[in-house]
Amino acid sequence: MIQELKELAQRAETELQGAHTEEALNVLRTKYLGRKGLLTQMLRQLGSVSTTERPLFGRLSNEIKEKISASLDAALERIKDSRRNELLCREAIDITLPGRAVRIGHRHPVTQVMEEICGIFSRLGFTVEEGPEIETDYYNFEALNIPKDHPARDMQDTFYVEDNIVLRTHTSPVQIRTMEKMQPPVRILSPGKVYRPDSDVSHTPMFHQIEGLLVDRGITFGDLKGTLTFFLQEVFGADILLRFRPSFFPFTEPSAEVDIRCVMCGGEGCRVCGQSGWLEILGSGMVDPAVFANVGYDPEGYSGFAFGLGVERIAMLKYGISDIRLFFDNDVRFLEQF
Ligand code: PHE
Repeated sequence: MIQELKELAQRAETELQGAHTEEALNVLRTKYLGRKGLLTQMLRQLGSVSTTERPLFGRLSNEIKEKISASLDAALERIKDSRRNELLCREAIDITLPGRAVRIGHRHPVTQVMEEICGIFSRLGFTVEEGPEIETDYYNFEALNIPKDHPARDMQDTFYVEDNIVLRTHTSPVQIRTMEKMQPPVRILSPGKVYRPDSDVSHTPMFHQIEGLLVDRGITFGDLKGTLTFFLQEVFGADILLRFRPSFFPFTEPSAEVDIRCVMCGGEGCRVCGQSGWLEILGSGMVDPAVFANVGYDPEGYSGFAFGLGVERIAMLKYGISDIRLFFDNDVRFLEQF
């Protein structure tokens, strides 16, 4: 019996060497240690062992049982270990590789210029007012002293939504909306989208304007000149040359367009400035008394100036961009440069 026990232990050891999977090990555990396993069966025969051999047999079989059990556990652990290692190798993360940078967007150049301009005027005490992009004929034209037969009202120049409803063609209607709701002193800036049925290298059907309006007692053309000169020097540099050129707008009198020395050729004359050496940069003027009358301000007591500028145009001149449509193609290679 003792001999048989030793052989059993030997056989179990050999079979264990050949078991390389969890399943094979479980089969072996049942085969030897299970309730009907070989070792269990042998232990049941304890009674038929002679009394002299019995203690040895008992001790030996317990030792063998523990040894097989321990070997099985160890083998199982080895298998699990190697499986874990394999997994770790396969999923290896090389922490020395440089990370993949997240692409971070930024504000559109038009927005940047708009914010820069608003920043300059906010330092002069201007606050921002906004108005609707879909406007009534009254605010877009009538209240701004633009009569019914004015060429600006032509279907060719305006997007009509309905008979009396338009996509605003300029930000000037915000002048009216502001003066209707507040009394002087008024000092506001109004950035926003405007619409005109135009499309070429310098025109898009939608573009951005910034409107400025200042009304108080005793405001003169000198204030207009001083304010706009300061503003343009902030944007284009202190040595920029300016020219105030007489012009006409129905809602300002007198009116002036402001030109800057061509930033492309420095005044020599080039394609961008049409050989004139000057670039038109904004429209401005003293608020027309007829406009004050429309909002119920006393034209005798108050005076003021207004101006309107195209944001894309300023951005084009500031950055030397030759085609306005680039702003709206949304090609990141273009946008990334700003
Ligand atoms: N609204 C005018 C335009 O779009 C610009 C302007 C605004 C002129 C304010 C004078 C005063 O051309």
